Amino acid sequence: MKVAVIGALGQLGSDISLLFKNNGDEVNKLDVDEIDIVNIDSISSALKEIKPHIIINTAAYHHVENCEKEPITAFCVNGLGARNLAEYCTEKDIYLMHISTDYVFDGEKRKPYIESDLARPLNTYGNTKLSGELFIQAIAKRYIVIRTSGLYGKHPAVQKGA
Ligand SMILES: NC(=O)c1ccc[n+]([C@@H]2O[C@H](COP(=O)([O-])OP(=O)(O)OC[C@H]3O[C@@H](n4cnc5c(N)ncnc54)[C@H](OP(=O)(O)O)[C@@H]3O)[C@@H](O)[C@H]2O)c1
Repeated sequence: MKVAVIGALGQLGSDISLLFKNNGDEVNKLDVDEIDIVNIDSISSALKEIKPHIIINTAAYHHVENCEKEPITAFCVNGLGARNLAEYCTEKDIYLMHISTDYVFDGEKRKPYIESDLARPLNTYGNTKLSGELFIQAIAKRYIVIRTSGLYGKHPAVQKGA
């Protein structure tokens, strides 16, 4: 399988690239120097030669405090970036795996959240990530959205500086 991992220098992108590589898949690692998901032309030109079967989008603007200070940047990456990838994947019939967050919930539930629970983000980060999910649900044909909580693994989180 040909896999394109976007945000491949990040915490999750690094580890997920390794996982697919160890599985014997062809892994194409892309980060901001090769692709800017905010720009649809950048997506087309970065992926036109690769022709992936699956795109894994781990790219995000997820520093919670910075999202409050720069909501437009956060929406561009987390919302419009996801929309652009959904458009591209639909046009090219590519499977899209998109990473979202537990920040789409308000944290009030005292039991584990399930997919059908009401999303009610409390901050800009959560709102922009939810907008990305909704764009994907509305546009993409073959996709999965994974809502994860705190990540751990071999590589550190770039935006957290850890
Ligand atoms: N870290 C967590 O604890 C956590 C918890 C829950 C959910 N998540 C979600 O999990 C996913 C992966 O998080 P992570 O911690 O692995 O992130 P990360 O380490 O910050 O990596 C994200 C990568 O995406 C790149 N990127 C940013 N804007 C981009 C753009 N416009 N186009 C292409 N690439 C871009 C970043 O480059 P720059 O560094 O140069 O900006 C960085 O290399 C995200 O969707 C995040 O919302 C993370």
